[in-house]
Amino acid sequence: MRLDGKVCLVTGGASGIGRATCELFAREGAVLAIADKNGEAAAQTADRCGALGAQAFSIEVDVGDAAGVRRMIDETVARYDRLDVLVNNAGYGIPGSVVETGEDDWNALMAVNVNGVFLACKHAIPLMAKRGGGVIVNVASVVASVGIRNRAAYCASKGAVAALTRAMALDHVDDGIRINAVAPGTIESPYFDAILSSSRDTEATRRGLRERQAMRRMGRPEEVALGIAYLASDESSFCTGTILTIDGGMTAQ
Ligand SMILES: NC(=O)c1ccc[n+]([C@@H]2O[C@H](COP(=O)([O-])OP(=O)(O)OC[C@H]3O[C@@H](n4cnc5c(N)ncnc54)[C@H](O)[C@@H]3O)[C@@H](O)[C@H]2O)c1
Repeated sequence: MRLDGKVCLVTGGASGIGRATCELFAREGAVLAIADKNGEAAAQTADRCGALGAQAFSIEVDVGDAAGVRRMIDETVARYDRLDVLVNNAGYGIPGSVVETGEDDWNALMAVNVNGVFLACKHAIPLMAKRGGGVIVNVASVVASVGIRNRAAYCASKGAVAALTRAMALDHVDDGIRINAVAPGTIESPYFDAILSSSRDTEATRRGLRERQAMRRMGRPEEVALGIAYLASDESSFCTGTILTIDGGMTAQ
């Protein structure tokens, strides 16, 4: 029970890495607030966590909306009286080079992937500091440190998440708040179903995604969740400002 009694808020908890994280946290004894723009699916995750014996509720929110993020933090504290762990996982990608990316699409993606992290941390950190500490885990990506083609806005957004993680870690080390990130490689989540279903040759696309990793397979959401749980728990008590790569050797090549 690595998170016994810890109040944990997970964004993007309705699917993929976020859902796997919620379920692992539930098994580790966490008390959960599960936020997602897909309220129905977030409620399903909360039910699954409940079936695993955890106290859990869901919040429908768009983390790109400033008032929504404020409400998300307020609802969590109103329900559980405090916040011990914040996992900023909600995010998405869009295809395109800089030339091909529309300004509106760029701004919308930055609002979710970057502003969402900024705003949640902005409201969570003072609450954590007042209680003597807390933990934040952001979900960045390997594209924060290596470029991939046709994902310019996404790469920029995850670079910002990694840089913000390091900067916040230093600013709040004396508040007793540890702030780290995971950098997943290619993880087989519903995120990729959309990419695969829009590709002309699904099998070739799937093969290409697999071949990017030295391990020649895609990762599973549960394998990233284990890294998030490590960073969220006291096991990582000497880690802050760390970007934990979980990528099947993709960036070792
Ligand atoms: N799958 C990968 O290969 C991979 C690799 C590196 C990083 N990531 C990152 O991991 C995180 C989770 O991705 P995933 O692969 O599990 O994808 P996913 O699409 O399965 O899950 C993302 C979840 O975030 C939610 N979400 C999206 N925008 C939101 C918003 N504005 N407000 C609230 N919720 C929102 C979605 O509804 C969904 O439930 C993302 O930040 C993604 O960028 C994924």
